[in-house]
Amino acid sequence: MTSPEWTAIAATGASVAALAISRARARWQLSRAKHPSLQGHARLSKLLAGIVRLYEYDDSRFFCCDDAPADIAARRRMAFDRLTVTLADQAPVTQRETADLEPHLSDLQFVNAYRVPFQFRRRVARRLSAAALAAESHGVLLDDLDGNDAYDLSGSYGLNVFGYDFYKECIDVGIERVRALGPVLGLYHPVVADNVRRLKTISGLDEVSFHMSGTEAVMQAVGLARFHTRRTHVVRFCGAYHGWWDGVQPGAGNPRRVDDVYTLRDVDDRSLEVLRSRRDIACVLVNPLQALHPNAAAASDGTLVDSSRAGHFDRVAYTRWLQRLRDVCTERGIPLIFDEIFLGFRLARGGAQEYFGVRADLVTYGKTVGGGLPIGVLCGRRALMKRFDDDRPSSICFARGTFNSHPYVMGAMNEFLSRLDTPELQRSYDTVEEVWNARAATMNAVLGREEIPVRVANLTSIWIVRYTTPGRYNWMFQYYLRAAGLALAWIGTGRLIFSHNYTDADFDVVVKRFVAAARTMRDDGWFWHMPSQTNSAIRRQVLREMVRARYPRLPSLLGRSGRTARLA
Ligand SMILES: Cc1ncc(COP(=O)(O)O)c(C=O)c1O
Repeated sequence: MTSPEWTAIAATGASVAALAISRARARWQLSRAKHPSLQGHARLSKLLAGIVRLYEYDDSRFFCCDDAPADIAARRRMAFDRLTVTLADQAPVTQRETADLEPHLSDLQFVNAYRVPFQFRRRVARRLSAAALAAESHGVLLDDLDGNDAYDLSGSYGLNVFGYDFYKECIDVGIERVRALGPVLGLYHPVVADNVRRLKTISGLDEVSFHMSGTEAVMQAVGLARFHTRRTHVVRFCGAYHGWWDGVQPGAGNPRRVDDVYTLRDVDDRSLEVLRSRRDIACVLVNPLQALHPNAAAASDGTLVDSSRAGHFDRVAYTRWLQRLRDVCTERGIPLIFDEIFLGFRLARGGAQEYFGVRADLVTYGKTVGGGLPIGVLCGRRALMKRFDDDRPSSICFARGTFNSHPYVMGAMNEFLSRLDTPELQRSYDTVEEVWNARAATMNAVLGREEIPVRVANLTSIWIVRYTTPGRYNWMFQYYLRAAGLALAWIGTGRLIFSHNYTDADFDVVVKRFVAAARTMRDDGWFWHMPSQTNSAIRRQVLREMVRARYPRLPSLLGRSGRTARLA
């Protein structure tokens, strides 16, 4: 071969090697930026979800799967029986009608199946009813069909920021405002113009689009980011929920394999490195609620197998993180999307953008902004909101939706947004953080004084219940709370949502009921644990049980826990 030929081969070889090295480096960076939990590994979580088999604790293990002594197990059993009777006697009509409805309502079957860890599921479902019907709301109370009222800690999935009566008024006044037009779709009622104007001011962005749910607003935000950047991949942070569209839900829970989402570590420099180096990132999605539990999903009691659930809000650290994320996105031309569907309007009138002092390119709102009716809103920079290409008529980012801008929803939203601008509501934001931090501190102080191994963490009025000693039965607490007249969402103690119309007197009642419930649960032996017990030992035990349930013929290599699992 001639020398120029050798040179050409060497140059090609060098380019291929450089490309391979750069690819390997990008791959390695991505791996480093994945959170080490299952949440951070979508494919693995999907794989495992397919492998895990149901097994249950039988009667002999149900009350002592933590190897509690006989007297503790007997105490728990008696308490379980007592609670069964209490819940049934308190609300016979509500319980009966819930039971009648369940076989016909898929959504109810789903939530009922995931209220407690699956090892306990069937016995709990048979004996401890979580009533699913309510007749009335007033103040901070919800009435069931038997006329019992319970303090609402469910917050209607986050919709309820200002109290149910507030939303009833928004709906009534709003519908009155648009009644003459009725359900005319396609044409807009003039209130839409006022809503758009107000949302632009709130978001500080140029344009608005209306959708029927938060999920759809997120779909639209992501679609537009892809359309305008012509890039493929979405970055979301580990644990963050952005609605049930499978395009932002890789991993377990999504039957489809999703290959265009990177799930990265939240609040972590390694993720910034990925954003700096990759060229396929169309947008970064942030759900600021994750500030309360970065890298963890909304804490459902269905996954409460031990006491490692954590929560801690550090405003300064999270603000710093959002600022750095903003800087990197700006540097790299990546649209930053704040998904404020949950948190918007709870922390500040201008939402998380105002509260953390960081601006996004696209912002989604939902839930509360509909004034009590179903809604999704997207606000964005003009260049990103455009759904078609001026130069290429066939290049479109298609989005419609029959019910978008429904006059009734727009009317209720208009009343909501108008009220938001009243001096009274504006003033309420000055103290909201202080008020709710003080209330959380009060709750923790009382729990501490009573030596109860339960604490709360909060981001203003969003609370997580934590358990401070290792235990297998923390999920029982939701039933004690319900029996004490506190209404919870189906995920139980993983998320308590208070509305801001709670007075100090209302809150005092909640503290009393909450602490009394926890005290009774402690006295009933559910928080008992062996002094040597740890959360990781519990998780190892459960893992061994799962393996044994899946592969029953495996030798006793699995150790002691083999006898703890009885297959269903
Ligand atoms: C942050 C966030 N994004 C999106 C959604 C989806 O909204 P929707 O349930 O209205 O579709 C939710 C719902 O809980 C949410 O909390």
